Amino acid sequence: VSFTVKSSGGNATSPYAYGLMFEDINNSGDGGVYAELIQNRAFQGNPIFPKSTVYWHPIGSTTLALSNDSTPLSSALTSSLEVSGGNGSSVGMYNDGFWGFPAVASWEYKGSFWVKGNFNGNLSVTLQGNYSNSVYAEASVNVASKADAWTQYKYTFQPTHDAPNANNTLHFTWDAACASGPLNFNLLSLFPPTYKNRENGNRVDLMEAMDGLKPSFFRAPGGNNVEGLQPPYWWNWTNTLGPLEDRAGFPGTWGYENTDGLGLIEYMLWAQDLGMEPLLAVWSGLWLNGTSLTLEELQPYIQSALDELEFLMGDASTPWGAKREALGYGPFPIKFVEVGNEDSLSKGGPTYRAYRFKAFYDAISAAYPDITIIASFYDVDDTTGTPTYNASGDFHEYAIPQQMSSQFGYFDNYTSEHPILIGEYAVIEYDTFNKSGPEWYSGAPRALYPFWYGSVAEAIFLLGAERNSDKIIGSSYAPSFQNYNRWEWIPDLIQYDAYPGNTVLSTSYYMIQLLSNTRITENLPTTEATLGPAYWVAGRSDVTGSHILKAAVYNSTGSVPFDVNFEGVGAYANGKLTYLTAPMNASSTIGNNVVKTTTENVRADGQGKFCFSLPEYSVAVFEVTAE
Ligand code: AHR
Repeated sequence: VSFTVKSSGGNATSPYAYGLMFEDINNSGDGGVYAELIQNRAFQGNPIFPKSTVYWHPIGSTTLALSNDSTPLSSALTSSLEVSGGNGSSVGMYNDGFWGFPAVASWEYKGSFWVKGNFNGNLSVTLQGNYSNSVYAEASVNVASKADAWTQYKYTFQPTHDAPNANNTLHFTWDAACASGPLNFNLLSLFPPTYKNRENGNRVDLMEAMDGLKPSFFRAPGGNNVEGLQPPYWWNWTNTLGPLEDRAGFPGTWGYENTDGLGLIEYMLWAQDLGMEPLLAVWSGLWLNGTSLTLEELQPYIQSALDELEFLMGDASTPWGAKREALGYGPFPIKFVEVGNEDSLSKGGPTYRAYRFKAFYDAISAAYPDITIIASFYDVDDTTGTPTYNASGDFHEYAIPQQMSSQFGYFDNYTSEHPILIGEYAVIEYDTFNKSGPEWYSGAPRALYPFWYGSVAEAIFLLGAERNSDKIIGSSYAPSFQNYNRWEWIPDLIQYDAYPGNTVLSTSYYMIQLLSNTRITENLPTTEATLGPAYWVAGRSDVTGSHILKAAVYNSTGSVPFDVNFEGVGAYANGKLTYLTAPMNASSTIGNNVVKTTTENVRADGQGKFCFSLPEYSVAVFEVTAE
């Protein structure tokens, strides 16, 4: 292909072109980014996910039982683990962790637990291997507790050596003679070092992985997880604040209880730590079982969304702002609010169009006229019969490669008046399917992990979005994470388990990283050339002063030669080409990153023309930096 990138005639692009979407799915919060290592630390539950002692096991013939306490640790944490009986010098219980524990010699771990019961002596906490019986780390905690009061104890330990895997458990043991009567335990917590050393913080390697994408917005909390499965459960932000003792937990929509350790403030700090603009999802009055609220019933929840915004942004003179200040945090400015999630896809669609969205929109825009309000599907203000709001929409695209790659021009005719969010997208199946038409369907086999030609297809879709980046706020792949041990949705951007060495950055991760790390601030048109099998977007960066071309080659018969001129770039200028390739069907797995990065210096000829080739199924960024 041969074309010239013009020096004018384009558009300023959105500063949020690439971001992150997060909801607790696939144990991406608990057992994922949230660094807590003990699973079922506080015996939380509800009629959907009943409380239990699961993930806890007796040591030394003790009996473990769930105790519904008459004097609970807190009004939120009302049940505890009762440990009774046992004899000998080593009785107690152990925890499985989130399918194991990492033992890393350079880490200092911080632990704590609450205990009630007559105990006087040392309680030992050990991190040990399941098969090797190796003790990696150990702490001895001097406990003097009483039968009628809860007391908290804290400890730290550091492994003496690394474990080769996460096949480790955390043991709490004592001499039976130290206790008289049963002991009750609650909120047993263990944290490794966290990103930026935040208390109650996030797992370092996963935060570093996200940071590698240089994301500029953070859509949270949802996805479906903001909605709740059925009345009365929804992602009620007020239950996620303050000390962990005050957080009762939430029956997540993906088959497991959420501890709510990862709460509203933690989301804001996460956004802050990675330099992302928060895009706050608020509950819209719809449950996943299809129940939606009447306009009258909706009012308290609209007020709750306003309270949430006051909590985040208000100063100390406001009731909710004062509560945030009391927790020790300054304001968290909010520029984007999304109302609900995929309200078009359920029985709640008609009520969303008829009154639910409008009710939230009117209330939020009256109180916060500068906030961009995003409807949870993208044509909400664009259909006959509904009023036109000054709102954005959220477009989700899950597709097969053939469909995704054909959508390069999808946004070409969209309006720039209400830029939309691509809040979720992913290639989720291979092209091989047995239904007519290029469309994914539920029931077809899903790809377990992102695979290369799917990632290239996503790149073409994203290049199309970047080309229209005056019409699009930005895009975020979904879901972001998958714990290998319990997942509900595949494929996902990043995989992991408790062993840090097992984290895998998928083929789509590297594709997004390449496109996101070089940002175009002004799109520029190119002279006519045939699109397909090569696709591209071109522009300039006001930040670096460079000229940029991003391209992808898909389904070609071989390498595609490019002859490119940039108006304003003279003879013999130097450019840097970076491109990614991988075997077409390949996915990255533990210890095997299939994506190869190639960089080449490309010098313009005497006419300022840059000549290079891109292989079949490749994604590239070419940058000519101002001399
Ligand atoms: O990303 C997984 C799910 O897909 C989200 O929760 C939902 O919004 C979509 O249907």
